[in-house]
Amino acid sequence: MAAVIDGKAISAKVKSEVRQETEALKAKGISIGLAVVIVGDNPASRVYVNNKKKACAEVGFESFEYALPEETTQEELLALVDKLNKDDTVNGILVQLPLPKQIDEKAVINAILPEKDVDAFHPVNVGKIMIGDFAFLPCTPAGVMELIASTGVEISGKECVVIGRSNIVGKPMAMLLLHKNGTVTICHSKTKNLAEVCSRADILVAAVGRANFVTPDMVKEGAVVIDVGMNRLENGKLCGDVDYAACFEKAGYITPVPGGVGPMTIAMLMKNTLTSAKIKNSIAL
Ligand code: GUN
Repeated sequence: MAAVIDGKAISAKVKSEVRQETEALKAKGISIGLAVVIVGDNPASRVYVNNKKKACAEVGFESFEYALPEETTQEELLALVDKLNKDDTVNGILVQLPLPKQIDEKAVINAILPEKDVDAFHPVNVGKIMIGDFAFLPCTPAGVMELIASTGVEISGKECVVIGRSNIVGKPMAMLLLHKNGTVTICHSKTKNLAEVCSRADILVAAVGRANFVTPDMVKEGAVVIDVGMNRLENGKLCGDVDYAACFEKAGYITPVPGGVGPMTIAMLMKNTLTSAKIKNSIAL
């Protein structure tokens, strides 16, 4: 039977550490600001943005929300990014993805100053993650690393399987596990014998975006199972990529959805924004 990894409790601890450091900076006259940009009215994005604003209030950051209409042009969005790049009160810029189809996401990500790119999506930050020389952690994979650390399971030398190869989660996730000396396999839609590959994993991270995709035959007895999925079922219920009820008996540790990876992503975003402010003010990390 699995032990449940409590992402809510672990994220609260991270946020409380960020809050303490933020208060210490405030005492020195340094305040921290995060700009959150949302374009259009994707309901999931709205929920994420509201949660990010709430987290800013919890840790003592200022948050600046820019809610732009669905028909915003790329030029208009790039002009806003340029303004935020130059704004000294803004330490971090987060443009919520996905963007409407008339806007090229890559052009927008590339326009954000790397030192304010708290998502770590800019090619400069992605490159730094690749070579292991990074200040900004990619938020979701970094949150997953904290969850794995909380189990006490050592990553070094272990079989780690990541299902999904997105730029936001799968690829940086694999890289962070590799930096900790895991033996890492990335699976995707063309992978042959997927269940067999997954069932070798001591640490299994599911980031596929398909409800209940991971079934017990894909889980090794006692494995750490981390569910990055956030799928909305027809009945409106949230559900992960892992068939939680079915895998619960077999896994050693498992994350619930909601209450697992989700809150960690936001906590790591707060940590990155704090890091940005510390670098700008030449404070040791
Ligand atoms: N959309 C889904 N996840 C994310 C994220 O971590 N950052 C941004 N900017 N957009 C997202």
